[in-house]
Amino acid sequence: MRKRYNAAITALGGYVPDTILTNHDLEKMVDTNNDWIISRTGIEERRILNDDSLATSDLATMAVKRLLEDSNINPDEIECVIVATATPDYIMVSTASIVCEKAGLKNAWGVDSNAACSGFLYALTLGASLVESNRYKNVIVVGADANSSIVNYEDRNTCILFGDGAGAVLLEQTEEEVGLIDNVFRTDGVGKEHLIVTAGGSLHPSSAETLSQKLNYISQNGRVVFKAAIEGMTQSCNEIMERNDMVAQDVDWLIPHQANLRIIKAVGEKLGLKESQVKVNIQRYGNTTAATIPLCMWEFKNDFKENDNMLLTAFGAGFSWGATYLKWGKLRG
Ligand code: UT7
Repeated sequence: MRKRYNAAITALGGYVPDTILTNHDLEKMVDTNNDWIISRTGIEERRILNDDSLATSDLATMAVKRLLEDSNINPDEIECVIVATATPDYIMVSTASIVCEKAGLKNAWGVDSNAACSGFLYALTLGASLVESNRYKNVIVVGADANSSIVNYEDRNTCILFGDGAGAVLLEQTEEEVGLIDNVFRTDGVGKEHLIVTAGGSLHPSSAETLSQKLNYISQNGRVVFKAAIEGMTQSCNEIMERNDMVAQDVDWLIPHQANLRIIKAVGEKLGLKESQVKVNIQRYGNTTAATIPLCMWEFKNDFKENDNMLLTAFGAGFSWGATYLKWGKLRG
């Protein structure tokens, strides 16, 4: 019989820039206040890249370097790097190419994937498929975003939400019953106008006009996205639990995309989970788009035990959303 290979997470790395942007800093920039931001979003501060010479590839490279150091894996063994990002360094030249160079991954090929806040989950499944098919044994998947490059710091609807950061995981081949088990993903362009960076792509290339109309920044219809996020994350988690014969007690951890504490709490409650089962770090980093889930896993990795059942779930621009079920494996190092 043909052998079955699984893709387990065996190492992690994370990085956020040093510069902290607090709610009180934002009070001086737009008409907002600390109490409003905390009560409506749960965010107290976020990190931003405060250096024009740095970009998403630098965040991603730092996360990858930490992963390599922690795991003691030889960088030459890494065969592929997938970078999930909505804020690539360039329109052409993938961020993954730059990460391979900066992190010294000489034997790896790299590619970017963009599904905004769902980008990491989708990339994780792509990376796992490469490993499960036995084509590759060691694949790094990164979620990284320098959101400060597309945030309009005059728009109070969005500037309070986003931060910069990166998280990386190593997917390694194993014959044990751990790693990625299943996913439920959906994508529907019908939601595109509710969360979008309108200009800078092939439909509306950047021009003096797009800049003057501020179309190169994120714009969001928060209320519509809020409602759709709760529905989409809850439904995809319920579907994955049902088809894997799981009830709430079988879930050890929920690692949700960190966009709004109220969304996270609502999803946890609807799934019947206790607060202690749900990992949250939005207070310190805000919404780092593709980075939220790997950053959260990296920060809380010492809480996870082998064979723990984890649900990861995200919702983002597109709309794009879904849930992934994984069994925690043994970490290297
Ligand atoms: O990661 C991708 C997915 N993204 C998300 O999941 C984000 C989803 N949406 C949200 O998190 C929330 O909708 C927001 C945090 C963006 C907004 O919270 P909300 O409770 O939906 O507020 P709202 O947009 O309904 O606005 C309520 C009020 C409005 O004033 P009026 O019309 O009631 O007088 C806004 O003008 O709050 C006002 N407001 C603010 N006030 C102080 C909006 N932004 C601010 C602000 N500070 N920053």
